[in-house]
Amino acid sequence: MTIKVIEATKDDVHFLWDMLYEAVYVDEHSEKPPRSIIETPKMASYVKDWGRHGDLALLAVDSNGNKLGAVWIRLFDDLSKTYGYIDEETPILSMAILPQFRGKGIGSELLKEIKSQAASKGFLRISLSVDPSNPALRLYERFGFKKTGIDGTSWDMVAELGEQ
Ligand SMILES: CC(C)(COP(=O)(O)OP(=O)(O)OC[C@H]1O[C@@H](n2cnc3c(N)ncnc32)[C@H](O)[C@@H]1OP(=O)(O)O)[C@@H](O)C(=O)NCCC(=O)NCCS
Repeated sequence: MTIKVIEATKDDVHFLWDMLYEAVYVDEHSEKPPRSIIETPKMASYVKDWGRHGDLALLAVDSNGNKLGAVWIRLFDDLSKTYGYIDEETPILSMAILPQFRGKGIGSELLKEIKSQAASKGFLRISLSVDPSNPALRLYERFGFKKTGIDGTSWDMVAELGEQ
């Protein structure tokens, strides 16, 4: 399918909240937690007050401009840190695609583009947090993310942007 990757604006922040909830992983045997989970401070911090220095979000849209998914990166520091934090110079990546559009290559397009744009902005690496039983792990590994540590049951992973 034909998609376009565009940069999100502040007007897209509601969609980022939606995608944050879509990004919450539960295995197939468990029930998804209620949407209020994204209001917990560590979860909310991926999107809250969107538009800070260093924030970058890309959307995948179809030919009618419908939003299909998003990837975004954000900087944190020792005080604001959340899952996936490495250091204050390494933005943390979050992403999700609407369920009916997964597995069609859209996430790969978004990852390719955000790695390239992050490198152009001078970032040296990107980190993320993923549950190792999430199939997304394979995608991240294909895009050069390597495990750097464990936080609870999740893996911290880092991709060096110079290695593209
Ligand atoms: C992870 C995700 C963003 C990838 O986008 P996508 O458009 O489905 O990915 P692509 O089609 O480009 O690539 C396919 C890869 O995505 C992953 N993937 C596919 N369907 C998936 C699903 N339902 N859930 C999680 N990952 C999935 C797999 O790694 C797959 O690789 P494989 O074919 O080797 O199994 C998307 O599937 C999604 O929104 N998943 C649920 C939310 C999520 O897990 N976000 C990440 C939190 S860390």
